[in-house]
Formats: sequence, C-alpha cells, structure tokens
Amino acid sequence: MHDPHPLFPAADWDPSLRIALYPGTFDPITNGHIDIIERGLTLFDRIIVTIAINVQKEPLFSLEERIAMIEACFSGNRRITVGYTDGLIVDYALGNKARAIIRGLRAVSDFDYEFQLALMNRRLERSVETVFLMTAFRWIYISSSNIKNAARCRGKITGLVPEHVERALQEKFA
Ligand code: COA
Repeated sequence: MHDPHPLFPAADWDPSLRIALYPGTFDPITNGHIDIIERGLTLFDRIIVTIAINVQKEPLFSLEERIAMIEACFSGNRRITVGYTDGLIVDYALGNKARAIIRGLRAVSDFDYEFQLALMNRRLERSVETVFLMTAFRWIYISSSNIKNAARCRGKITGLVPEHVERALQEKFA
C-alpha cells in the first residue's frame, strides 16, 4: 500500500528545500507529536508526517481517520503534509526528496529502540539522516496507548490531545 502519489512531484521540487519525514503510527496523534512537529519546523522547510502502516499493530483508528485527524491539526500550514506507506521509511523519504527522519525521544527507555532503528535505516540508506528531538518535558509520559487506555475507561484526557482527537476518542468508546 505505497502512497501512490509522491507528495512533492519532482517537477515541483525546489532543491533548496530541507524536507524531513516524521514517521509513526499516530493512533492517534497526540500533543507530544505536535510539539515535535512544531519544533521540527524550526529546522526544516517542510515536514511530511508519515503514517507507517504496520501489520503487526492493530490500530483503533483507520488510516483515513488518522490522516484526517493529523490534517485537521495543521490545516492551513502548507509546510506540513501527511503521507503514508507500508514500505520502508527510507524509500518513502527518497521518493519524496526528504533527507532526514525526525524522531522524538521521551525517556532513556526510548533510546535503545530508536538507536537500533536509526542504525538500521542508515544501513538501508546512508543518505538519509535521523534527527532526534527531545520531547518537551510536559509530554514525556504520554503515548497514544496510554491516552487510548485512559479514554476507554472514561478518564480525563483533555489537554493531552487536540480537541477534535479527544472527541474522536470519546465517540470510539461511547
Ligand atoms: N509524544 C507522545 N507519544 C510519542 C511521542 C511523542 N513525542 N513519540 C513517540 N510516542 C509514542 C507513540 O504515541 C507510540 O505510542 P504507542 O506505542 O502507544 O502507539 C510510541 O511512542 C511508538 O512511537 P511511533 O513513533 O508511533 O513508533 P512505532 O514504533 O509505531 O513506529 C516507525 C516506528 C514507524 C518509525 C518504524 O516502525 C518504521 O520505520 N516502520 C517502517 C518500516 C521500516 O522502514 N523499517 C526499517 C527499519 S527497521
């Protein structure tokens, strides 16, 4: 299920643009992800928020729902686009002229996994660099899973996700 439409067709591509991918499952997008994206925009001209379709994960939200939720967070910001792939992230990066992958680090526990992922991606494609940003302290404990768990049990998740994501979670668990 490769995204059949490269987001920046070669003809439109300005070689001076610094383009990065921000990959993840985004089931759903949280304020922690948004923080990373907003800070990534200080380093890159464009960020492609890329939903990685992982057959081992069973997402709560469909691909279409996740795309719509991310787009609603950034509507009007032409520097951010949303894509998806079930292939290699580095291939999707090359196909969209991105030279960097952004990943957020929340705690030391993220490091091992991220270190392996970055080295594997480097092994697969040397021209694509991984850039790590520290997640802001206020979002350090949140993940899509713990927000879903709280929402499932009617816990208060206000302020951890955008309002439209909070509503979508409430509807799922109504
Ligand atoms: N704020 C809040 N939560 C955050 C966060 C932040 N800043 N950063 C990460 N998280 C959470 C996510 O919500 C997610 O939570 P969950 O596990 O409860 O759903 C968790 O951390 C994992 O993060 P995510 O970024 O979604 O990673 P992932 O492990 O689902 O996917 C990919 C990682 C997509 C980068 C990786 O699987 C991949 O590259 N896949 C494509 C295939 C490929 O190229 N493989 C080659 C390399 S082996």
